[in-house]
Amino acid sequence: FYFIINPFTIQKQDGSALHSFGYTPVTEGTFPGLPEQIARAYRLLHGEHLSPLTQSMMGNLMMIFHQDHLRPGGAWRTRGLYDFCVEVTLEATFLTLYGRPAKGLRHADAAQLKASFIRFDDAFPLLIAQVPIWLLAGVGGIRRKLMSYLTTPKMSGWAGVSQFIRRRAQLLERHPILGDADKAAHHLAMLWASVANTAPAGFWAAYHLLRHPEALRAIRQEIRDVLESSGHKFSAGTDLALNPQQLDKMILLESAVHESLRLSSASINIRVAQEDLTLRLNNERAMAVRKGDIVALYPRSVHMDAAVYDQPQTFCFDRFARQTEFFKNGQKLRHYLMPFGSGASICPGRFFAVNEIKQFVCLLLLYFDLRLETGQPDARPDASRAGLGIPRPARDVRFQYRMQQKQKHIYIYIYIYIYIFFQYVKKNRITDL
Ligand code: HEM
Repeated sequence: FYFIINPFTIQKQDGSALHSFGYTPVTEGTFPGLPEQIARAYRLLHGEHLSPLTQSMMGNLMMIFHQDHLRPGGAWRTRGLYDFCVEVTLEATFLTLYGRPAKGLRHADAAQLKASFIRFDDAFPLLIAQVPIWLLAGVGGIRRKLMSYLTTPKMSGWAGVSQFIRRRAQLLERHPILGDADKAAHHLAMLWASVANTAPAGFWAAYHLLRHPEALRAIRQEIRDVLESSGHKFSAGTDLALNPQQLDKMILLESAVHESLRLSSASINIRVAQEDLTLRLNNERAMAVRKGDIVALYPRSVHMDAAVYDQPQTFCFDRFARQTEFFKNGQKLRHYLMPFGSGASICPGRFFAVNEIKQFVCLLLLYFDLRLETGQPDARPDASRAGLGIPRPARDVRFQYRMQQKQKHIYIYIYIYIYIFFQYVKKNRITDL
């Protein structure tokens, strides 16, 4: 495995992304200063900015769980696990980054957004391979529909927009050459980047935990312990609130998320040499790379290397909690886990994404009893998406969930209380008349 670290000689190739989303290329020549400003705005996704984003994400996930899933009643509900992950991740990410309507907590068209997003994402492997969009039946229309959700007039009416998206919108607004469609296409690109990998990553994390009850139990206990140690004994009557510091303390959960990323990641990072150079591969070997050569990095070859990882095909939920240094042939590796890419263009949303997956798993584990439907084949990654980050499953798996029994009772008491309260109010109103 050879890792290219010098971002100034080998740069990212952008052509396929332009083709997929259909925006005008943002180059230094046409938009002086803009590429650098856009890259600088990525800082608004981490560091001190991670805390408000994580809090907002928590509130949105909690609200979606409350309104759609935390209903009392002992029956198991059955769903496709990937479908569940896309639905929750897309809406929660959208609300957290792009904001909510001026009135109300949720966008009325969330279901259509999900349907269009899935159709666009289905076509993505062909788009990124630069197949003309007019050859892909209906995809042009779907892309336009998605862009129509993200126009400047629509977005300017929303509340709670993240600083990151506000900043990007401001930067794009400064350039009158960019038409409305261009700006919407840029926003669509960011929406896709923020959901298309996170949803399958959430799927694989949940799937592996459902298949490994001992891991699920240990992590559920860890989450409760962290909450308790910070003075928040978990009870279903109150909303779960987790800040980045608490999430950082969930070492086993973090390890399980990293382990599922290690097993699932299939990204290929492509770079184009900006000048002739000699690439030193290891102490003995070097390679001449010419200006314009394309260099592909395939992190999966390290992720699945038995010389680096013991039993690389096995999901060991606590692997990264037990071991923090990895070696190959006696040489310590700096880059042994790269689901988020590498170098200058390493994914700027990686901390936000890992926190989101952790929060999502915390909600699943704390509120629900969970199980996979029996008699299904094992989930396999969709091979058509190799090279595109975290592949989704080739076929969705069915899972079942119900509110945990103890918590269900608390909710029943809350509902009975609300019912009695409304009966009381109704009776008094009638008497007043
Ligand atoms: C599990 C979830 C995610 C995975 C596995 C992932 C993975 C990646 C990978 C492999 C790259 C290419 C890196 C390279 O070329 O070296 C990338 C780039 C990018 N990701 Fe992510 N990503 C995830 C979530 C997110 C989120 C949540 C956001 C935004 C909030 C985001 C925003 C971006 C952006 C803007 C880029 C392009 C960076 C650039 O052009 O310099 N990603 N991501």
